[in-house]
Amino acid sequence: MAVLVTGGAGYIGSHAVAALLERGEEIIIVDNLQQGHQKAILGGKLYVGDLRDGDFLDTVFQENSIDAVIHFAANSLVGESMKNPGKYYHNNVYGTLSLLEAMNRHQVRKIVFSSTAATYGEPENVPIDENDRTLPTNAYGETKLAMEKMMKWFDVAHGLKYVSLRYFNAAGAHASGQIGEDHSPETHLIPLVLQAALGQRPHISVFGEDYPTEDGTCIRDYIHVSDLADAHVLAVDRLRQGGDSAVYNLGNGTGFSVKQVIDIARQVTGREITAVIEARRAGDPAVLVASSDRARQELGWKPSRAKLEDIIGSAWAWHQNNPGGYDDK
Ligand code: UFG
Repeated sequence: MAVLVTGGAGYIGSHAVAALLERGEEIIIVDNLQQGHQKAILGGKLYVGDLRDGDFLDTVFQENSIDAVIHFAANSLVGESMKNPGKYYHNNVYGTLSLLEAMNRHQVRKIVFSSTAATYGEPENVPIDENDRTLPTNAYGETKLAMEKMMKWFDVAHGLKYVSLRYFNAAGAHASGQIGEDHSPETHLIPLVLQAALGQRPHISVFGEDYPTEDGTCIRDYIHVSDLADAHVLAVDRLRQGGDSAVYNLGNGTGFSVKQVIDIARQVTGREITAVIEARRAGDPAVLVASSDRARQELGWKPSRAKLEDIIGSAWAWHQNNPGGYDDK
């Protein structure tokens, strides 16, 4: 039986496809290629189309024997979601509804879902665990939470079993050097720092130095994208073994400040990286660190690329070899 990966041409989706390929899984990919890159797909059968098109999804399910879905396809820019929430509700929430309805029509009842720490909003506790309050502070996080809740009610009504994986800060690139992070526009700290190291940007902006943290900059829990990918494979296994629906945080459980990230990037690259302190970015919580105990215990997940030096090192290899991202190949 095949695994359907939606958004398999995106950053995290393409790394999950790579992990599934390493296991010899049959893979079907659905991606509208609006943000994804065809070159990021290392194997499997690609259907180019949109989740909101039910007829298109019927064709995908009819032409293949799919028993499980991993659902990445979504818009994921926090800033954009605040300016254009309608786009996020339409693509993320309606797209997921269309997918779940198609799964229901074709009796596919296992889904692993790409969720986010943004479902929590400003945390009540650090580290955050899955029982903590979910009160998103941006439209992106709100749509991801709505998608999780939709799955819950499809479970109640139709027996859909889901595993929702709430990632903290995905970073790094595949060990093969073939795939990595290429967003347009890029908004994430580590790729921007590495672009500064490559001389593609004059400096890295540090958004706020007046947070209640030791050095005044925001603290995040950076997790290697291939460790995230591995968790998806374990989640598929759990569902195939008859496991119940569940929600898991995925992070290393260690926080690094923006200044610490920049310092480690200086060490890893051996380059000068100029940092310029700027105003806070709206909506950034001061500290986001995961408790992933539940994923470790119930999924048997263990991040194996936890050192930030190694995470940044893998991203640096990708950026050096692909300074223009996928387009320069
Ligand atoms: N930052 C800078 N300068 C930059 C870019 C980022 O100082 O040029 C800072 C941010 O203010 C933040 C930290 O670096 O404190 C990390 O920022 P990222 O944009 O890399 O990541 P976020 O923590 O904002 O976002 C991540 C995911 C989102 C998710 C969010 C949940 O990328 O998808 O966590 O809070 F919604």
